[in-house]
Amino acid sequence: MHLNHKRTLLVILIVFVACTMLFAQPVGETKKPKRVGIISAMDTEIELLLSEAEIERVDEIGGLNFNVGKLCGDDVVIVKAGIGKVYACAGAAAMFNNYDIDYVIFTGVAGGVGDDTHVLDMVIATDLVSHDYGTITDEGFYWRDEYSEDTKGRIYCDPNLVDVAVLSAKQVLGESRVFTGTIVTGDQFISSSKYVKQLQEQFNALACEMEGASVAAICRMYNIPCVVIRTMSDKADGVARETYEFMMDVAADNSCHVVMKMLEYI
Ligand code: ADE
Repeated sequence: MHLNHKRTLLVILIVFVACTMLFAQPVGETKKPKRVGIISAMDTEIELLLSEAEIERVDEIGGLNFNVGKLCGDDVVIVKAGIGKVYACAGAAAMFNNYDIDYVIFTGVAGGVGDDTHVLDMVIATDLVSHDYGTITDEGFYWRDEYSEDTKGRIYCDPNLVDVAVLSAKQVLGESRVFTGTIVTGDQFISSSKYVKQLQEQFNALACEMEGASVAAICRMYNIPCVVIRTMSDKADGVARETYEFMMDVAADNSCHVVMKMLEYI
């Protein structure tokens, strides 16, 4: 058999096994419809999803609008939580305290870190780090790896959801635009070529944003599988703000298209 065919068959087999393990129902249990929680930081990051969804009702909780309905045949709760770790955590916790959520997809945009990721590429987080968690001393800032003690500061996404995201993203965006690896989170918009280089060197990061690690941490506390998917809106460099303003809507829609493809598999 041709090598390419063998590779394709192998990839299909791995994804099939991953989906079977992820979504299999134990024998004898009645089938509860699964519900996917979709969280973003900004309106533009869920606009396309809301326009495609059948929203049954909007619940206002803690000043946030939780859109409850169906998207691509799945039950969903969609919320824009706000920008930064505090709002992202509050949104995630409010969602988990009020709805029965089986999986979480965080969707949105990010700044590309390093030479490999370009604007409109997608990074799917295998793990996340809170890069601004630490101690300030007279000698400078020291990052603390105790944020999640057992994993040395890294918070891992659900590997099966990562596989589904990768498969979906490759179908939607093409193989060469999809990356998996570390995403770093902090309460700053990064627009500095010096700092972004530091993020790459210290954490081997592929992207930086402002919510992912905190939502992944809350998902871990509630034992809910999650994945963070981000399309690059800029390069987190000296011109990041300008690039971001110009690219964020199309980048946000990119991620939404991948979310909808993922729902076909979930
Ligand atoms: N989200 C999109 N671009 C970003 C950047 N450069 N820094 C932090 N969050 C972002």
